[in-house]
Amino acid sequence: MSEYVKVVIGEKTYELPVIVGTEGEKAIDISRLRRDTGYITYDPGYANTGSCKSNITFMNGEKGILRYRGIPIEELAEKSSFREVVYLLINGELPTQRQINRFSVLLNDHSLVHEDMRTFFENYPKRTHPMGILSSMANTLKSFYPYLENQEEEINITVTRLISKVRTMAAMSYKMSRGHQVVYPRPDLSYCANFLNMMFHTPVKPYEIDPDVVKAISVFWILHADHEQNASAAVVRSVGSAKTNLYACISAGISTLWGPLHGGANQAVINTLSDIVNQGTSMKKVIERAKDKKDPFRLPGFGHRVYKTYDPRAKIMKRMCDTLLEKFNITDPLLDAAKELEEIALEDEYFISHNLYPNVDFYSGIALRAIGIPTNMFTVMFAIGRLPGWIAQWRENFYDAESKICRPRQIYMGEQKREYIPIDKREKKGGDLQPLFTEFQTDKYPDISFQE
Ligand code: SDX
Repeated sequence: MSEYVKVVIGEKTYELPVIVGTEGEKAIDISRLRRDTGYITYDPGYANTGSCKSNITFMNGEKGILRYRGIPIEELAEKSSFREVVYLLINGELPTQRQINRFSVLLNDHSLVHEDMRTFFENYPKRTHPMGILSSMANTLKSFYPYLENQEEEINITVTRLISKVRTMAAMSYKMSRGHQVVYPRPDLSYCANFLNMMFHTPVKPYEIDPDVVKAISVFWILHADHEQNASAAVVRSVGSAKTNLYACISAGISTLWGPLHGGANQAVINTLSDIVNQGTSMKKVIERAKDKKDPFRLPGFGHRVYKTYDPRAKIMKRMCDTLLEKFNITDPLLDAAKELEEIALEDEYFISHNLYPNVDFYSGIALRAIGIPTNMFTVMFAIGRLPGWIAQWRENFYDAESKICRPRQIYMGEQKREYIPIDKREKKGGDLQPLFTEFQTDKYPDISFQE
C-alpha cells in the first residue's frame, strides 16, 4: 500500500504521495503542490530537497556510508582501479576483461589534444589558476570536434574524449605553467601512470613509474569519483537539463568545484596548515575563528552537508598520507599539524554539537604533496577524479523521463508596484547592499589594469 502525507491548508486537506528509496530513504513528492495548492516550498541550498531519483551513488551521512552502484567505497579503494570505477559509475556495472580492454584502447586513442589548443594555454597570464584554464579548455574542446548526428555515438565519443583529454590538459597546463616541454601520453602506460608521466617526466630526468604512487593516484581519484547531488554534480545536471552540450556542462561543473566551500577546500586546508606551521598561527586561534559567527572563516576540510560523522573517504585518505610519507621516508609537518588540529576540533564542544568532522579535503592535500603535486593543482586533481561522476549524473538525467529543465521558484520579497521617477526628481537611496558603480575609487588602485 503506497504511503502518503497529509497537508492541511486552511479548510482543505491534501494528500501528497511518499517516495521510498531502495535504502529506505523517504521523500514527500511535492511535484504537484503548486498546481493543487498554490503554495511552493522554501529550502535555501536545497538542504531538504531531492532534485532527482538516482541509481548511481548512495550515501548515509549518519553512518558514514558511501557506495558507488551499491559497492562500498572501502572495497573499491582497496580492490579496484580508477579506470574500472569510471566504467562502473557511467555504465552501472563493473566491466568484463574484454570491456575494460576495449575501454583502455578508446582512452588511448583519444588521449591527445589538438595542437592548436597549445596557443590557448600559451596566452594565459602566468598566474592564471589551473581551474580557470581547465574549465575554459573543457568548453573549448567542443570547438575542435564535429557533431555526430547519431546521438548515441556523439555521447560515446564525447565521454571518452573528456575522460582522456581532461587528464592530458591538466598535465599540459602544469608543464606549460612551468615553461617545461609538454609530455605526450604514452599508449603503453595506464591511465594514472600516464598522468604522472605527463606531469613529471622531463628530457633530463625521465620519470620513474612507481606502482605505489600509481595506486595512490588511482585511490585518490576513486575516492573523488562521485558524491551524489553535491554542488558541482547538481550544476552539471542543471546545465544538462537545458540540453546544453556535455563539454559545457563539465566546464560548469569544474567552475563550481573551484569554490573554497567545495573542491577548493583541499587547497584552503593546506593554506591554513601552512599558516599554522610556517607563520606560527595558533591552532587555538584557528578553532576560535572557525567558531566565531562574526568571522566568515570556516575550518577548511571540516563539516559536510550530508556526513554528520567522519567522512569515510577522509579515513582512507588519512591512511594514504601515512603510507606515502613512510614509503618516501619523509615527514610532513603539515600532516602532524593536521592530526593535532583534528584532535583539538573533535574534542571541542562546538564541533561536537555541530557534527563537524574531517571531510575528504582535510587530508587529501597532504597526500598530493607527498606525490609532488603542486598546491594550485589540488582542485584540478579533484576535478579529474569527479569527472566520471559528473558524466554519470549528466547521462542519468539526460535519459530520465521525469527530468525537466531545472528552474526553481522563489518567494519575492522586493518592492511592490511603484512609479518610474524622472532622473531630476530622484534622491540618493541605498538598498540592502552598498550600491555598485558609484563608490569605487579606481584611482586608489593604479595597477589594476592587467596582471602578468
Ligand atoms: C566537498 O556535497 C558534497 O558531497 C561535497 C563533497 C563532494 O565530494 O562533492 O564532499 C566535497 O565540497 C567537501 C566540503 C569541502 N568544504 C569545506 O571543507 C569548507 C568548510 N566546510 C563548511 O563551509 C561547511 O561545512 C560546508 C560548506 C561543507 C557544508 O555547509 P552546510 O551543509 O551548508 O552547513 P552550514 O554552513 O549550514 O553549517 C551548519 C553549521 C553552521 O553553524 P550554525 O549557524 O548552525 O551555528 O555548522 C557550522 C556553520 O557555521 N559549520 C562550520 C563549519 N562547517 C559548518 N563551522 C566552522 N567550520 C566549519 N568548517
